[in-house]
Amino acid sequence: MLTLVTGTTGQVGRRFVPRLLAQTRPGEKVRVLVRDAAGGERFAELGADVVVGDLRDAETLGKAVAGVDAVVNVAASFRGVPDEEAWAVNRDAAVELGRAALASGVRRFVQVSTGLVYGVGRGRPLTEDDPVQPGGAMWGAYAESKAEAERELLALDGLDVRVGRLPFVYGEGDPHLAQSLMWARNWAATQRLQMGHHADVAQGLLRLLYAPGIAGRIYNIADDAPVTAVELHQLNGVEVPAELHTRTDSDPWFVITSTDRIRRELGYRPLYPSVYAARDAGAL
Ligand SMILES: NC(=O)c1ccc[n+]([C@@H]2O[C@H](COP(=O)([O-])OP(=O)(O)OC[C@H]3O[C@@H](n4cnc5c(N)ncnc54)[C@H](OP(=O)(O)O)[C@@H]3O)[C@@H](O)[C@H]2O)c1
Repeated sequence: MLTLVTGTTGQVGRRFVPRLLAQTRPGEKVRVLVRDAAGGERFAELGADVVVGDLRDAETLGKAVAGVDAVVNVAASFRGVPDEEAWAVNRDAAVELGRAALASGVRRFVQVSTGLVYGVGRGRPLTEDDPVQPGGAMWGAYAESKAEAERELLALDGLDVRVGRLPFVYGEGDPHLAQSLMWARNWAATQRLQMGHHADVAQGLLRLLYAPGIAGRIYNIADDAPVTAVELHQLNGVEVPAELHTRTDSDPWFVITSTDRIRRELGYRPLYPSVYAARDAGAL
């Protein structure tokens, strides 16, 4: 089995690939797609094949999927990029990758998505059968392009697509937890963020990759304990601004996701059920 992983120089991908490589059996191989050769060196040292190129380039896609059995599409463009780039990478290139995979006989395609595709909250944890409901504070090109990519990939006739919707991912030196204050400082004190440690995101994606018989299925991946804006400040050792307590949270269930399905169907159990468990284990 040869598995292609994209987005391996990013926060999620660079922590996922070593875990995937650690699970390979004799005869199984991993290929990574990187945009520049230097970014691939650490994976080559770990035993991966490296293909260099941009996901938006058709020739690159052909090279990347040649001989591949499974794809894990982690790549996305959303950190401070123009909307056109978000659409081009997150939807158009993801769907083209799906088409190229289908044409080359790939058996499984795991699409990494985001809980932001739900849009507004529903007054309870969001389940995978909830339809996309555009709107809410974080709706925009990123969420919309990821939602459309899911929809178009799942509609590709003959390709076994599985979708993992990630929460706010943190841990293992990722600066994301500190960056959360960019938003949390403008929130109400009680507004919550659904979290997931890199170890558990990798666990979830590996379960999606290996499980038989789940073509077309979507799974939320997250821990058990969303944290409030107050806690995000405390976890970062930053004084809680008084204004937080003057605001109200208009959508208390915004991107709070249920993990019932992935627990029941794939046996997922978070290694770090809360950010506090990760902190106490020295895994932040
Ligand atoms: N981190 C989170 O909290 C979070 C939450 C929900 C969902 N997700 C999803 O998880 C995935 C990974 O997120 P991340 O936090 O790891 O993002 P990231 O750190 O920004 O990494 C993005 C990755 O995609 C690659 N990429 C971007 N444009 C590309 C292109 N045109 N061609 C080839 N590769 C390209 C980047 O390569 P370069 O290094 O060359 O730029 C990088 O490896 C994404 O699908 C995202 O939607 C993440």
